[in-house]
Amino acid sequence: MKSFEVSERKLAESSRYLAGGVASSLRAAMKPTPLFVSSGAGSRVRDVDGNEYIDYLLAYGPLILGHAHPVLTAKVHEAMQQGYTYGLQHDGEIRLARRLTEMWPSADKVALSGSGTEAVMVALRLARAHTGKTKIVRFHGHFHGWSDAIFTSFPSPDMKLAETSGETDEVRPGTSGQSRSSLQEVILLPWNDPEALENVLRARHAEIAAVITEPVMCNNGCIAPKPGYFERMRELTAELGIVLIFDEVITGFRFGPGGAQERLGIVPDLTTMGKAMAGGIALSAVVGKLEIMNLIDRGTVNHLGTLNGNCIATAAALATIEELTLDDGAAFREMEQNAIRLADGLRILLRKHGLRGVVNRTGPVFHLMFIERDEVTTFEEFAERDAGMYAKFAELMLNEGVLVRPSGLWYLSSVHTEEDVTLTLASADRALSVLTAINRKD
Ligand SMILES: Cc1ncc(COP(=O)(O)O)c(C=O)c1O
Repeated sequence: MKSFEVSERKLAESSRYLAGGVASSLRAAMKPTPLFVSSGAGSRVRDVDGNEYIDYLLAYGPLILGHAHPVLTAKVHEAMQQGYTYGLQHDGEIRLARRLTEMWPSADKVALSGSGTEAVMVALRLARAHTGKTKIVRFHGHFHGWSDAIFTSFPSPDMKLAETSGETDEVRPGTSGQSRSSLQEVILLPWNDPEALENVLRARHAEIAAVITEPVMCNNGCIAPKPGYFERMRELTAELGIVLIFDEVITGFRFGPGGAQERLGIVPDLTTMGKAMAGGIALSAVVGKLEIMNLIDRGTVNHLGTLNGNCIATAAALATIEELTLDDGAAFREMEQNAIRLADGLRILLRKHGLRGVVNRTGPVFHLMFIERDEVTTFEEFAERDAGMYAKFAELMLNEGVLVRPSGLWYLSSVHTEEDVTLTLASADRALSVLTAINRKD
């Protein structure tokens, strides 16, 4: 058994000074204890107890080139020699913005921020200013950051559906202290349900500024859109004067150089991106159509942020994009191949151990869940999974030297190898044996 004693001690120390003992509430959920890290290199991360893990948490998504990638590190060092941030303009911003407009189908212009949450805030503001309307349609099980404007009870399976008429006061805040009035602008709908979408958009289009959606429901079950769903969403929003926002904070720079929208063949009006964009350095962006983005040029919409477009972040993003697009995007193909190997291997292991479960994979991301179903295609179905059993599995995997997110979502990086996959599947085999033994005792 691995020891986590030093991490436990550090959590006690940290809790004396840091609210919650961790820097983001989600991180407190890790069992047996939130890990404290001493270093990371490539696909591996090492904790303060000296345990090493193959890392599929990847800092909740950003580490698409793995830890301490030599090219990214060198480019960031090089940029730092010239100063970190100026509060003035520099070439890195132009080069990055130009590159994004070349890569992303929906990008005529770019606005840079620091986090996915901020990018979503800018996108919602642009949509409202462009349409002169205020309501935002969002979907059960999607996550768009933690601002008061959009953070709803998450991922609560008992959220009630919005009515097609009347106020949506059943949209519950995600946390104490959150403004309830902001959420009165939010209409919450089931995802992957074209009829529910069409009914609400037709009935309420005069007040709806935007529909915001993850292109694949990565945050809860890695659920893919049904065939035709986004085509219908695109037609309806275009017809009814509603801005379509793709939140590609996860899928961007992970599903390919042009994100999920390129794979799906859908061009939204606005796109938010972050996480993997700068390989682990804080950076996000909104990109979109000229007529909407020009609201910032004209000063109609304020886009603010002290550290926006700083040279460390732009250098990191340019280096990450360059690495990912080398050899005609070989990194994307390899990540996907490894995800397929892992997902297929895990399905075989579930059968071997007589466990009911689903591995939902789209591109290089997948979600493993224990559930009494053969497939999971909606958030409501996903809510039936045994989250406690998965958290136990994640803990057993930690003991095996594999770091996975306690929720079930797995990320791959460009530096994970076939050997990593083989070792991981052997670890999962042992962890599932222990899990079945525990289940039998219960
Ligand atoms: C789809 C999506 N949008 C927005 C965000 C918020 O990004 P950040 O945590 O960088 O603020 C997240 C974070 O997980 C996300 O998954």
